[in-house]
Amino acid sequence: MKRRIRRVLEGRVALVTGASSGIGWAMALGFADAGADVVLVARRAHRLARLAQAIQAKGRRALLVIADVAVERAVKRVVDEATQAFPRVDILVNNAAMILPEQRTHETSLVDWDRLLAVNLRGPFLLSRLLVPTMLQAGYGRIINVTSGYKAEPGFGAYSVSKAALYALTRVMAQELRGTGILVNALDPGWVRSEMSPEGGKAPDTVVPLAIRLASLPARGPSGKEFVVR
Ligand SMILES: NC(=O)c1ccc[n+]([C@@H]2O[C@H](COP(=O)([O-])OP(=O)(O)OC[C@H]3O[C@@H](n4cnc5c(N)ncnc54)[C@H](OP(=O)(O)O)[C@@H]3O)[C@@H](O)[C@H]2O)c1
Repeated sequence: MKRRIRRVLEGRVALVTGASSGIGWAMALGFADAGADVVLVARRAHRLARLAQAIQAKGRRALLVIADVAVERAVKRVVDEATQAFPRVDILVNNAAMILPEQRTHETSLVDWDRLLAVNLRGPFLLSRLLVPTMLQAGYGRIINVTSGYKAEPGFGAYSVSKAALYALTRVMAQELRGTGILVNALDPGWVRSEMSPEGGKAPDTVVPLAIRLASLPARGPSGKEFVVR
């Protein structure tokens, strides 16, 4: 039987990157179930359009913005469109990411290394950089960076480095923003079945309860921590 989600995000606006599939799709739907309006970001328009329809059918607003999170001007457009459509963004979920085929790190091409770091690390930095000032004005923000158990995994050097660095970014920003009303945490989803990980063990919606918990933390809640879906 499906558990009923309490509407703990009523009145909130959440921006979810990588919403076109897998964990991002599940979190965006879950946030809408919990009462939030949602800004959906990814590159595949047709998939975001389907998700937006599903969210609107729940009576919530959904704005879709097609963008590559590695590209600064695209991220600026995301934030411009989001802040035109909604009074503010309360919740930022940096979920979009890529992985490379298994390979030793010294055999990774420079192009692949740079691209992966740009998507997995520069993207979250760019979005945080553009959204934190408005969160500071509002005195409220919840940032969730989707990390991974892979932080030093042989064969996945670039990905591991990106996720270890994203966790470092989480801890640094949490300390810098202490006392401002903005909480910054990391969410490690565990091994989930998705396009990135077709053999994964769990369904993407197993991540939703923890994502909602982190998105609705009280002002004195934890910040700078990594939470793992078991
Ligand atoms: N699955 C797992 O077992 C697992 C384990 C640990 C951590 N994670 C993390 O969980 C998060 C979600 O992964 P997933 O498993 O749900 O994989 P997924 O189904 O492959 O989803 C990745 C999402 O990121 C988007 N994306 C990729 N590159 C992008 C870019 N340059 N700009 C904008 N969006 C981009 C993709 O959409 P478009 O192609 O439409 O842009 C897609 O929606 C990732 O951060 C991943 O590292 C997953």
